[in-house]
Amino acid sequence: MENTIQLALTSMIWVLPAYVANAAPVIFGGGKPLDFEKKFIDGKRILGNGKTLKGFIAGIIAGSFIGFVEGILIIGFLLALGAILGDLAGSFIKRRIGVKRGQPFWFLDQFDFVIGALLLASLVELPSLEIIIAILLITPALHILTNVMAYKLDMKKVPW
Ligand code: CTP
Ligand code: MG
Repeated sequence: MENTIQLALTSMIWVLPAYVANAAPVIFGGGKPLDFEKKFIDGKRILGNGKTLKGFIAGIIAGSFIGFVEGILIIGFLLALGAILGDLAGSFIKRRIGVKRGQPFWFLDQFDFVIGALLLASLVELPSLEIIIAILLITPALHILTNVMAYKLDMKKVPW
């Protein structure tokens, strides 16, 4: 029991730059969309209005800052950049299959950013299999919980 809690905490602390990078745009995002309102060859938006330049920059800075505080600046930066890129890839896929901006796509919404973060961070450090499994188990639950909280606090228009 104690070991499980310890593993869960270690995992969350390690991946925290990715969590913060994914959450920061909700607070600091908005404004000019990253895709400059351009459409893809299928006639639909490349990313949509939910992915903005300010959110992109805020996510990388906030996530990297956490990495800096944790003394893992390079990994923190990679986790943050990976989380943001994973989130963008998720939106790109959502638009291609016709899911509107802000509409949910279960599993993809919960995993895109953390998969991106793990992939980019693995360029420098691959955490133990135990930690990876813990991250993949904890992240979706935490994602749903924090989004419902952000909705109740009027920080988000939708609870997902
Ligand atoms: N956000 C942002 N820039 C980003 C990512 C997010 O400004 N790069 C802000 C937007 O206001 C967005 C909110 O954070 O609406 C929540 O992010 P998310 O749920 O990832 O976006 P959605 O609006 O659901 O868009 P999508 O359907 O493309 O996932
Ligand atoms: Mg969303």
